[in-house]
Amino acid sequence: MDQTTPVPTASVRIRGVDALHPDGQYSRLAKWFHWTTVPLLFLALATGVTIRFIKDDAKMDFYALHESTGLIILVLALARLAWRGFSAPPALPDHLPPHMRLAAHAVHHLLYAALIVQPLLGFFTTNAYGFPLAGETAFLGFIDFPKFMEAHETLAFVLHWAHSLIGWALPVLIAAHIGGAIYHHALRKDGTLLRML
Ligand code: HEM
Ligand code: HEM
Repeated sequence: MDQTTPVPTASVRIRGVDALHPDGQYSRLAKWFHWTTVPLLFLALATGVTIRFIKDDAKMDFYALHESTGLIILVLALARLAWRGFSAPPALPDHLPPHMRLAAHAVHHLLYAALIVQPLLGFFTTNAYGFPLAGETAFLGFIDFPKFMEAHETLAFVLHWAHSLIGWALPVLIAAHIGGAIYHHALRKDGTLLRML
């Protein structure tokens, strides 16, 4: 490069619009929260549905992995929502028709709700089974959580049922969300996906 050519320090702007993010973008931290949660959620879902097929000592490792991942997702979701309070996401672009705005908001709200309710349900389920996160299933393998309730079989059954229900609804929601992102990027060719990259 010629010594006099300035090195670009900001993203390219065409007629005043950020060419990489024509529809605005989420903050760096919001993107970090989003993309860190994605693999963790896939791990929680994958371990959740496979635990029942795992035997002996490995089963306890699966519980510890599933439960620890789930609780990390909860902490990330709470921190993310707190951050969202400080740093509002970019407004949806004007070219989005009302039904798409409604769909995007509905799916985002449901995803946030699931990221919080699902780990809590799992946590209360294990406790209602009389099986707190301690010993072999300690949080991250070494942090024991105190037992805070007595085992309650009926409550455990109901909580487990609700946890399973959301566990199976989540992939549907995620598929709709990813489908929406692909639709916007590949078919509608707008800047929606770029908002999160
Ligand atoms: C976002 C986080 C989580 C997701 C997506 C998730 C998902 C799942 C799924 C899909 C299942 C299988 C349900 C079924 O086949 O009936 C499951 C089972 C289970 N989850 Fe979670 N879970 C999460 C967090 C947690 C947490 C934090 C705990 C406990 C602290 C937990 C405890 C359990 C237990 C005890 C089971 C039953 C496993 C078995 O014995 O079959 N989960 N979870
Ligand atoms: C699998 C787990 C995922 C979860 C739980 C999730 C959750 C969310 C949530 C809650 C939001 C709203 C953020 C906010 O407004 O504060 C969001 C936005 C977004 N997500 Fe995901 N997401 C996931 C995966 C993906 C994937 C795989 C893609 C890309 C293919 C994607 C693309 C986007 C985009 C583009 C936005 C911004 C939408 C907008 O412009 O408002 N997400 N996601």
